[in-house]
Amino acid sequence: MANGLCDNLLLATYLSARCKVYFAPAMDLDMYKHKATLDNIKRLHSFGNLIIHPGNGELASGLFGEGRMAEPEEIISFLEKEFSKDLLLKGKKALVTAGPTYEAIDPVRFIGNHSSGKMGFAIAEELAAQGAEVTLVCGPNSLKLNNTDITRIDITSAEELYNASVKAFKTADLAVLSAAVADYKPVSAAKQKIKKTEGSKNIELTPTKDTLAELGKMKKKDQLLVGFALETNNEVENAKVKIKKKNLDLIVLNSMNDKGAGFKKDTNKVSIIDKNNKTIKFELKSKTEVAKDIVNVIIKGLSPKK
Ligand code: CTP
Repeated sequence: MANGLCDNLLLATYLSARCKVYFAPAMDLDMYKHKATLDNIKRLHSFGNLIIHPGNGELASGLFGEGRMAEPEEIISFLEKEFSKDLLLKGKKALVTAGPTYEAIDPVRFIGNHSSGKMGFAIAEELAAQGAEVTLVCGPNSLKLNNTDITRIDITSAEELYNASVKAFKTADLAVLSAAVADYKPVSAAKQKIKKTEGSKNIELTPTKDTLAELGKMKKKDQLLVGFALETNNEVENAKVKIKKKNLDLIVLNSMNDKGAGFKKDTNKVSIIDKNNKTIKFELKSKTEVAKDIVNVIIKGLSPKK
């Protein structure tokens, strides 16, 4: 009775599965060798299902022979090999920048922006899901990574982001710079907290180092460089200027004028423009879906040119 119920549940799950199904059979040795079983295995293969072969050993009946279910470690290692073999970014190294940077005014105050880092984190996760070895350089944020294989480098200032990114880019195949880097920083940060008794103040600002522009200068033929542009007006024209100026392969444009797009949101609406000005416009989507679109375009850009 219990087995019947279990079989029915298994059958219902199997028949509803739209994905590839792997099966790891376990049965007594004579059952496993029976023509009915062998025919059924062939049939499952013909549906595109894959067997994880049973091993030799002690069986539930007390007999010894073929039919013992593969050990859990063997099943996992089989599946790991299976899933990684079609990954399109296997063997590629990727650098991603994400989040804001904070430029210190004094020990308690800074110049920053509203970036949450969500877009960059989603891109890092998607690149890793496609098999890339990812280094994520990120400014202050409260996000956690799901994929523990991603190397996370936490930084605070534009200068730290620059140093970490320049180092990682030397060995990278591709880089996606989605961080909202402060363009200016105070010429010098006060050592002590500035007191309001000091009266009115002017803070002298100086430009920060532009990491994306530097990577554009460093870029070798086989490296792919993707920048972001967040614009409020003349969006496409401004983005196209940035592609040329910073020697990019692709730029991801998001406009502050689109509802649901931009800082802190879980959604984004982007256009991706390449160096030949070919533009693909996407609908408003979750940042996870936007990351998939961006990574798909990157994969096409990395494919050998015909
Ligand atoms: N960027 C960077 N380092 C900086 C400034 C920007 O790496 N110091 C990168 C961003 O991560 C983004 C791209 O440059 O990928 C464009 O950033 P954006 O702020 O839109 O443009 P800017 O080049 O800073 O120009 P402007 O602010 O004048 O539009």
